[in-house]
Amino acid sequence: MENTVDLRRIVYALSDALDLVGIDDVAHGKRVAIMTTKLGEKLHLPQEENVFLFELGLLHDIGVSSTHVHGQLMDEFDWEGSQEHAHLGHSLLCDFAPLERMAWPIYYHHTKWSNLGSIEQHLARQANLILLADRIDALAIPYYANRRILEHKDTIRAAVASRSGEYFEPELVEVFYEISRSESF
Ligand SMILES: [Fe+2]
Ligand SMILES: [Fe+2]
Repeated sequence: MENTVDLRRIVYALSDALDLVGIDDVAHGKRVAIMTTKLGEKLHLPQEENVFLFELGLLHDIGVSSTHVHGQLMDEFDWEGSQEHAHLGHSLLCDFAPLERMAWPIYYHHTKWSNLGSIEQHLARQANLILLADRIDALAIPYYANRRILEHKDTIRAAVASRSGEYFEPELVEVFYEISRSESF
């Protein structure tokens, strides 16, 4: 039990440190963590898996070490160098036993759903849940500061739906459609 508490503290401390990389856009990891967990709850995933997804959401961009890279990730839906921080994040965690479980989902968190066919289904879904929450946040970011997110809700939902089957697993897009009807999401 003590180890679990200590590990959680490490995850939260790393998450706070990662927020500093964003500078003008803090809490991306925290928003991704919350959205991923909401999607997981709607999919009726076990509680233990939702806890894992929350922490995975917090740390998914652990391979981002510069505000410049963070900016590109949030300004563009996809870009040529998007895999670099995913692979770096994987290499940071794959030899660290307490968080090793996150290494592969992080590796694939910018890989299109249509390219995940050859990997294990459970891993593919975890990675795609993170990608979906991550891109929803990227699409929503321009509207947080001016509080106009609700005006742009339909545009964001349509942008996600148009990538169903290519970037995102269709079932996850359906779940997103359902829960994003609510303004609180
Ligand atoms: Fe990322
Ligand atoms: Fe991200």
